[in-house]
Amino acid sequence: MDTIPAHVPPELVYDYDNARDPRMLEDPHARMRSLILEAPPLFFSPCNGGQWFATRKKLIMDITMNPAVYSNVFRLAPEGQPEPEQGFRMLPIMTDPPEHTAYRAPLNQPLSAKSLAGLEAAIRAMTNELIDQVLDAGRCDFFSDIAEPLPVTLFMKLAGMPTDRLVEFRHLATQATSATVDHETRSATFKQIAGILAETIKSRQEKREEDLISRLLDATIQGHPPTFQEMLGYSVTLFLGGLETVVNALSFGVRHLARDQELQAKLRADPSLLPGAIEELLRLYGIASTPRRLTRDEVCHGVQLKQGDMVLLLLPAANYDDTAFPNPEQFILGRTEPHMTFNTGPHRCVGLNLARLEMKVFYQEWLKRIPPFRLDPQAPPRFMGGFNLAITTLPLLWK
Ligand code: HEM
Repeated sequence: MDTIPAHVPPELVYDYDNARDPRMLEDPHARMRSLILEAPPLFFSPCNGGQWFATRKKLIMDITMNPAVYSNVFRLAPEGQPEPEQGFRMLPIMTDPPEHTAYRAPLNQPLSAKSLAGLEAAIRAMTNELIDQVLDAGRCDFFSDIAEPLPVTLFMKLAGMPTDRLVEFRHLATQATSATVDHETRSATFKQIAGILAETIKSRQEKREEDLISRLLDATIQGHPPTFQEMLGYSVTLFLGGLETVVNALSFGVRHLARDQELQAKLRADPSLLPGAIEELLRLYGIASTPRRLTRDEVCHGVQLKQGDMVLLLLPAANYDDTAFPNPEQFILGRTEPHMTFNTGPHRCVGLNLARLEMKVFYQEWLKRIPPFRLDPQAPPRFMGGFNLAITTLPLLWK
C-alpha cells in the first residue's frame, strides 16, 4: 500500500503516477502544464513507492546547482539499465562533482558544435535515404520509419561502429527502450548492447580510428587512462542518452507541425527560422525528467526533505512555468529565456549540440522534400510516460 512519510505535510501530497497517469497518457505536455496549475511546486506523490516532484524552473535550477545535497550517485538506474554493482557505472551521469568534472571533461570537446560539424553531411545523407523510402507512399509512421532509425545510425557513425550492423543494432535499441518488453528481455538486450560496444572498444584499443571511442581511450581521467569498465560506462550512456530523447523530440516536433500548416509553410519559405523554431519546439515538448537523491536532510524552498528522499525533476513541466515563459502553451518564435529540456547545472546534456544538429538537418530536408503533411485522422498518435515522455506511433499523410 502506498504510504506517506511523516515529514510530508498533507498539503504537499498530490497524486501523480509518472508512468500511468491517465491524463498524461492522453496528452503528456498538457498534463505537464496542469501540474504547474494544480500542484504545489514541490509535491510528494505516494505512487510507486513515493517520491517528490519538482516542477518549477527556479526550483529545479537551485537543486541541480547543489549536487552536494541533491546527488546523482545514488540515482536509481532507469528500468532495465545496469545498477552500478552490475559491473560498470553509467558515465558521466552517475557521478557528482568533483569526480563528475573529471569524467565529463573528455566528452566536452568531441561533442562541441565545432567538432560535430563534420558529421553534417552524413546526417543529411541518412535523412534523405529515410525520406526516399517513404516519399512516394504519401504516408508513413513517422515514429518507426524516420525518428527511430536516424539517431541509431548516427550514433554508430559517431562511435565508429560498422553500419552494416545497423538492422541488428536498431532492433536492440528498440528492445532496450521499448515499454512493451518485459524486464528480463530488456536486461538481456542491454547486456547484448554492452557486449557489442565492448567489441568496438577492444578493437579501438588495438587500433585507434577517427571516432569518439578512440578519443575517449586517449583521455586522461584523474591521472589515468579510462579503464575498460569506464569505457563501457561511457559508451552505454552515450548510446542510450541519444536514442529515446532524439526520437521523441523529433516526433513531438513533427506532430506539432502536422497540426500547424501555417507554421509548416512559414518554415518552408524561410529555413533560416529553423534554429529558433527548434528551440521553441524543444521547450514545448520537453522529453526527459531526471532524479536526484538527498544526501542529507535539507529545507528546499521551505519544504523539509529528508536524507534518502528521491526528487524527480520534471523538466518538461518547468518549460510550462509561466514565471519563466509567459503564455507557456503558445509557440512563440524568438523567446529569449533558455528552456529546461537539456537541464541546467553540471549534468546539462552533453549531447545537445548533436541533438540540435540532427534536428536542424532533419527539418531542412524533411520540409524541403515532403509536401504539406498532416496527422492521419484514422490513427491518432499514442503516448507513453516514465523518465521520458514518449510517442509510440505517429502516422502522417501528405497525399
Ligand atoms: C533532444 C534530445 C536530448 C534530450 C532532451 C536530452 C536530455 C538530457 C538531460 C535532461 C540530461 C541531464 C540529466 C541530468 O541532469 O541528470 C542529459 C544528459 C546527458 N545526455 Fe542528453 N539529451 C538529448 C540528446 C542527447 C544525445 C544525442 C546524446 C549523445 C551524444 C546525449 C547524451 C547525454 C549524456 C552523456 C548525458 C550525461 C551528461 C552528464 O552527466 O554530465 N543526450 N540529456
